[in-house]
Amino acid sequence: MSEKKRILSGIQPSGVLTIGHLTGALTNWNKMQKEFESFFMIADLHAITQKQEPANLRSWTLDTAAMFLACGIDPETSVMFTQSHVPAHAQLAWVMSSFTGMGEAERMTQFKDKSKKKPDNVNVGLLSYPILMACDILLYQADAVPVGDDQKQHLELTRNLAQRFNHHYSDTFVIPDPYIPEVGARIMSLQEPTAKMSKSDPNQNAVIFLTDDNDTIIRKIKRSVTDSGSEVNVGEGKEGIENLITLLSVSTGKSAKEIIAEYEGEGYGKFKSDVAEAVAAYIAPIREEFKRYREDKDLLINILKKGDEQANKVAFKTLSKVYKKVGFLQY
Ligand code: TRP
Repeated sequence: MSEKKRILSGIQPSGVLTIGHLTGALTNWNKMQKEFESFFMIADLHAITQKQEPANLRSWTLDTAAMFLACGIDPETSVMFTQSHVPAHAQLAWVMSSFTGMGEAERMTQFKDKSKKKPDNVNVGLLSYPILMACDILLYQADAVPVGDDQKQHLELTRNLAQRFNHHYSDTFVIPDPYIPEVGARIMSLQEPTAKMSKSDPNQNAVIFLTDDNDTIIRKIKRSVTDSGSEVNVGEGKEGIENLITLLSVSTGKSAKEIIAEYEGEGYGKFKSDVAEAVAAYIAPIREEFKRYREDKDLLINILKKGDEQANKVAFKTLSKVYKKVGFLQY
């Protein structure tokens, strides 16, 4: 057994990944994989809780794999796999759903938000989404889970379910800690800066995709929604400018404080165009790497196959323990 602590995280292949995934997840995963035994998952089972065109789902799954690699995930040291290729996820989710209270599931704010946003598709999968997510984590006995703060409540549920099961039977699951990175974790929509940037936003101008070319990135940032003031600073009503400060900070490595000092008395025009140029330069090499990997479908599939196999071994071991403990006849 490896001495290293273990992490697991995942991204849904429900669209092309955005700069928010880069700064909030992938950059961080890349750093963490050196220190932790790492499992990075393409959460395709989760993706179907929203309506998906099958061809898009297939294509986005490969996109996500290519983007993991373009952002520096190393398949030699980390396990990179597709959730639907590891049957234990769905199997454990069934077991754990019998340990989850209806009220407990209904309380999840993401469930409530998604239900409100798409009232015509409030399916049971949406309700059990956090249970499946808990199982993703528990199957691998992960010590830590790097996630955005919007997933904190799901992590709390994961810990509760694990503790409940351990207490009811005997020690089975490691209780995972959330690992929420301090900077760049939250990139907001360019058009509605009080909402998180989302790959499935119907307004493409609100989102910087990691596949956008330089001109597109520059145009989107220049047209981003800010306030009617002129001061490059943070504060009430200045969410748009704050978001641009964050983008400039992640793209250049400068701190928000340095940026605010640098642009004192400058106005928005120059600031916006500097942010636009900096973000374009930051994304360009990733986009090129992505293209290179995405063109090599055989390579992607081979990497995923190897990852699926490694993941299956670990996940099956945990599932077998669970099946035995709950009393499924062993023969
Ligand atoms: N729900 C996560 C998100 O939308 C994706 C996800 C699925 C995940 N399973 C996971 C993240 C397990 C961490 C661990 O961001």
